[in-house]
Amino acid sequence: MGRLVLVLISMLCLWAASTLPVEGGDPIITFEWKVTYGDVAPLGVPVKGILINGEFPGPNINSTTNNNVEVNVFNNLEEPLLFTWQGIQNRKNSWQDGVLGSMCPILPGTNFTYHFQVKDQIGSYMYYPVTDMHRAAGGFGGLRIHSRPLIPVPYDQPADEFTVMVGDWFNKGYTSLKKILDSGRNLGRADGIHINGKNAKGDGKDEPLFTMEAGKTYRYRFCNPGLKTAVNVRFQDHVMKLVEMEGSHTVQNIYESLDLHVGMCFTVLVTADQEPRDYFLVASSRFTKRDLTATGIVRYLNGNGAPKPDLPKPPVGWAWSLNQFRTFRWNLTASAARPNPQGSYKYGGINITRTIRLANTAEKVDGKLRYAINGVSFLEPTTPLKLAEYYGVADKVFKYNNIPDEPPAQVSKVALEPIVLNITYKDFIEVIFENHETAIQSWNVDGYAFFAVGIETGTWSPEKRMNYNLLDAVSRHTIQVFPKSWAAVFITFDNAGMWNIRSEVWDRHYLGQQLYFSSLSPNRSLRDEYNMRDDTLVCGIVEGMPKPPPFSS
Ligand SMILES: *[C@@H]1O[C@H](CO)[C@@H](O)[C@H](O)[C@H]1NC(C)=O
Ligand SMILES: *[C@@H]1O[C@H](CO)[C@@H](O)[C@H](O)[C@H]1NC(C)=O
Ligand SMILES: *[C@@H]1O[C@H](CO)[C@@H](O)[C@H](O)[C@H]1NC(C)=O
Ligand SMILES: *[C@@H]1O[C@H](CO)[C@@H](O)[C@H](O)[C@H]1NC(C)=O
Ligand SMILES: *[C@@H]1O[C@H](CO)[C@@H](O)[C@H](O)[C@H]1NC(C)=O
Ligand SMILES: *[C@@H]1O[C@H](CO)[C@@H](O)[C@H](O)[C@H]1NC(C)=O
Repeated sequence: MGRLVLVLISMLCLWAASTLPVEGGDPIITFEWKVTYGDVAPLGVPVKGILINGEFPGPNINSTTNNNVEVNVFNNLEEPLLFTWQGIQNRKNSWQDGVLGSMCPILPGTNFTYHFQVKDQIGSYMYYPVTDMHRAAGGFGGLRIHSRPLIPVPYDQPADEFTVMVGDWFNKGYTSLKKILDSGRNLGRADGIHINGKNAKGDGKDEPLFTMEAGKTYRYRFCNPGLKTAVNVRFQDHVMKLVEMEGSHTVQNIYESLDLHVGMCFTVLVTADQEPRDYFLVASSRFTKRDLTATGIVRYLNGNGAPKPDLPKPPVGWAWSLNQFRTFRWNLTASAARPNPQGSYKYGGINITRTIRLANTAEKVDGKLRYAINGVSFLEPTTPLKLAEYYGVADKVFKYNNIPDEPPAQVSKVALEPIVLNITYKDFIEVIFENHETAIQSWNVDGYAFFAVGIETGTWSPEKRMNYNLLDAVSRHTIQVFPKSWAAVFITFDNAGMWNIRSEVWDRHYLGQQLYFSSLSPNRSLRDEYNMRDDTLVCGIVEGMPKPPPFSS
């Protein structure tokens, strides 16, 4: 009966989410999304954008740990569409990860319902479209996971909370950007930065983005859904207390400004402890030749007057960013999604079973720009890798382990093909992201949280392990790699499935810097991986093939 009521409610009320307990299970929350084109103008220049239920940025998904989330997506665009849930681990369930290596896209004029559980997670996350260059047009929004009522949160309940999507923006429009990349050219520089799709004009008529009451504390959930630009965010005359980063409660340091790399999210607390008036929230580009800056207004309720004109200054130099990374620490005694302390998982004492070094390069292939990893540039197959593997026809679509575990000394010609690493289920693996280029890089791993144990400049070598943080590195899902630097992460591969590692720098992603790893439970058991749902979309060579028998137990 609960389900029937729910369907009625969601049909009547497109924007609302509703929660009803499911007998013997975790609550289901449902959303219905109508995805359409619409004009947007974050920098004052109207371009064709992507709206969800008429909104840009898209609506928030507000959830609590262990909720089952159902999102019924109506694709009213003219192109196939898929959304991914950045940082949502989808335990046992790469089927719903929303990337083209594990799912078929939703065709124009059709709808498809995602089913995923925000199992054992808390924090600030986001979703965005992965198809085409749709991310350049919008379709992104915030995803919050609150702690369950009985789990202690290491700070007082804030008065309210705000989602802040901060990213770069190109006025050309996504179809032009796609054409540029398809023709093998460089995307060039962004035109500006937006904060929740806006940039204040500063003419005294700007509407506030957020309103605070004097004396109260607010939770700001920041994410960077942009294409390629790292930003620095700061509030005029207010400090930020960092409390959470990609699912982990952090040591609560105070910052005047914080870097937010592409694909990343964090949560800060801001107390309205200044004279009641308007203040600027400032976001400016990092690691770019030309500085791009956006501002937004944060208002005090019953405040008095416009913000002071002087903007808080950005940090200088990127060594500053490296030092800031080193201040991010896991709070070992805080509870996360479960009551036990976060630090009870002692990753520093586990033996590494495999080291994988992944180096990004920019290449010309037949005169066209491609981005590669260890000598191979990823080419999207028409059959999702997961389906090819599940239906037993992997050999017709891709080759396992077609890149070496370390960057080759010499690459004669970059190959364009899918990249799939075979990883032994439950192995504890060290991944080194090596960036020998002068551009900044940002990597995301789907399906997992990893320990970000080290970032240093120069070239990685085994002796560098002596400098790793083996005690309280933050468990997270994205990591930046500074120019001519490396980053090391530890991952326990205990989430069976086909999972994506991708550059969040979207021109690099579009032109080949991503790969998948397959980690299959030898037991083929439902304890380790869910079955393919009956409503899973099929496409490519598996279309029309008989479905393999499901796992039995
Ligand atoms: C979001 O979820 C939390 C916890 O489930 C709840 O307290 C809060 O009221 C919700 N907010 C909105 C805007 O629905
Ligand atoms: C499409 O939407 C309808 C109406 O909400 C729903 O009943 C149906 O299950 C959806 N189809 C899929 C494949 O999700
Ligand atoms: C860590 O979390 C604990 C438990 O909630 C809290 O008491 C403590 O203040 C936090 N420590 C830091 C340094 O943030
Ligand atoms: C790790 O490896 C060392 C050396 O091979 C061995 O002595 C130790 O028992 C191993 N530890 C674990 C937890 O497996
Ligand atoms: C992947 O690795 C596992 C464990 O090493 C092995 O048993 C399996 O045969 C490999 N699969 C493929 C397709 O190479
Ligand atoms: C497979 O199942 C057996 C029996 O239940 C169990 O002992 C073993 O640990 C399982 N293997 C893995 C890799 O989970």
